[in-house]
Amino acid sequence: MRIIFTEDYEAMSREAAKIVSGQLYLKPASVLGLATGSTPVGLYEMLIQVHETIGLDFSSVTTFNLDEYVGMSPENPQSYHYFMQEHLFSRVNLKPENCFVPDGMAEDLAAEGRRYDERIRQAGGIDLQVLGIGQNAHIGFNEPDIKFEAMTHKVRLDDETIRANSRFFARAEDVPRYAISLGIRNIMLALRVLLLANGAKKAEAVYKAVCGSVTPEAPASILQLHRDVTVIVDREAAAHLPAEWKREAVYTF
Ligand code: GLP
Repeated sequence: MRIIFTEDYEAMSREAAKIVSGQLYLKPASVLGLATGSTPVGLYEMLIQVHETIGLDFSSVTTFNLDEYVGMSPENPQSYHYFMQEHLFSRVNLKPENCFVPDGMAEDLAAEGRRYDERIRQAGGIDLQVLGIGQNAHIGFNEPDIKFEAMTHKVRLDDETIRANSRFFARAEDVPRYAISLGIRNIMLALRVLLLANGAKKAEAVYKAVCGSVTPEAPASILQLHRDVTVIVDREAAAHLPAEWKREAVYTF
């Protein structure tokens, strides 16, 4: 695991944009796993800038998003599909037919999960998976549980997640109770993983992900078993990590 310590949100986003741009430069037909939430917005903004200024090319890129709320159509402004259109898809030269988000409107969510897994497989698997982290250490919508859920599946959201995500909705009651999410095995199968975290609210989750025991009660902790993970944190999110690690801008272990 490699941890990049940055000062603030902007620096975190910049470091992440370098890694994603480097990936696309080296492999123009990359398959990217993408995340929603407030964390990757700065990364997406910077990728748009790199696209506009030096022509970072997305024309052969395929993307798979981590998750979607159940019952939300892509036209719903609260949907993750809509979020991605707004923050990335419509602003770079990604081909619409190469951008995938799980279908939260599918009648049979188990079948939709299998279809999504198969699509990822047919695309050759995920080269680089971008992740945020929930305050309860969830990744995608893999909530703390007694076991790791393997592949794309329906999830009942935790009360804590519903509370945290209610900031994007008019009322907490409006936050959907269910989502469809890539599973832990899908994430672990990605060749490279990039986890971003900023702000004091994420400090505990980052500590559990990086220093805690590997347990489904802190889903992000599984990343300790992945062979190519880069975690980029700002100063606040790194608050609980050992001080001696922070003496170096990049700590590898
Ligand atoms: C949601 C998403 C996650 C995301 C998390 C953190 O629950 N399903 O993929 O990492 O929120 O969100 P934020 O980045 O807004 O803190």
